[in-house]
Amino acid sequence: MIEAQTIRQHWEQIYQSKTPGDVSWTQESPEPSLSWIRTLPLDPKACIVDSGGGRSALAECLVEAGHTCIEVFDISMRAMAQAKSELRSPEAREAIQYRVCDVLQYTMERPIGLWHDRAVFHFLTDPAEVEGYVRNLQKMAPDYLLIGTFSTKGPEKCSGLPVRRYSPESLAALFREDYVLIQSDEPIHHTPSGGVQAFSFVLMRHRNLSV
Ligand SMILES: C[S@@+](CC[C@H](N)C(=O)[O-])C[C@H]1O[C@@H](n2cnc3c(N)ncnc32)[C@H](O)[C@@H]1O
Repeated sequence: MIEAQTIRQHWEQIYQSKTPGDVSWTQESPEPSLSWIRTLPLDPKACIVDSGGGRSALAECLVEAGHTCIEVFDISMRAMAQAKSELRSPEAREAIQYRVCDVLQYTMERPIGLWHDRAVFHFLTDPAEVEGYVRNLQKMAPDYLLIGTFSTKGPEKCSGLPVRRYSPESLAALFREDYVLIQSDEPIHHTPSGGVQAFSFVLMRHRNLSV
């Protein structure tokens, strides 16, 4: 298991030295997340959490789609400062909160409508960390989960760090005690440098949520 302080330093260094065009995970449009979120019957005031959101455009796209309560958190202070400074609209500045936090330490007192995580959970390679993430979500019990990791056909490393890869089935299986699968896919991400990366995405609904 890599120490939290070492992980923090790694990511601070990345956000200090690289532009969005230099890193593999940058997306012009945050898909399939945005399209999938649009299909959900979420109250526009429901709280959406973007785990390890970095400089992703997702939060601002969600504000444009009418959402008014979004929290983006990330282990990197620099990433959160950059993301905040890049917001274009006053509505986004009003609706989006930024927090510096390790995903394994994250807590939220308010009910969460949607938990979104693209390419963060897969950095948890130790079984105890995976269990900690799953247990934390069981406690916070978001209404919906949307999680994307590298697929079993995807790279073995991301940003130089080892990752744990999942099929849509093995990813959904981790949460199925509390969540029902709505949708899954293995989309291909085209990196800014012209590479391809296979992802697994799952969208799940809490079993206690009436539909
Ligand atoms: C591959 S990037 C993905 C960023 C964003 N989710 C996206 O799709 O554009 C991984 C992000 O997770 C953050 N991160 C890595 N480990 C983390 C942890 N333990 N807790 C919170 N954030 C973490 C990094 O700082 C980075 O912003």
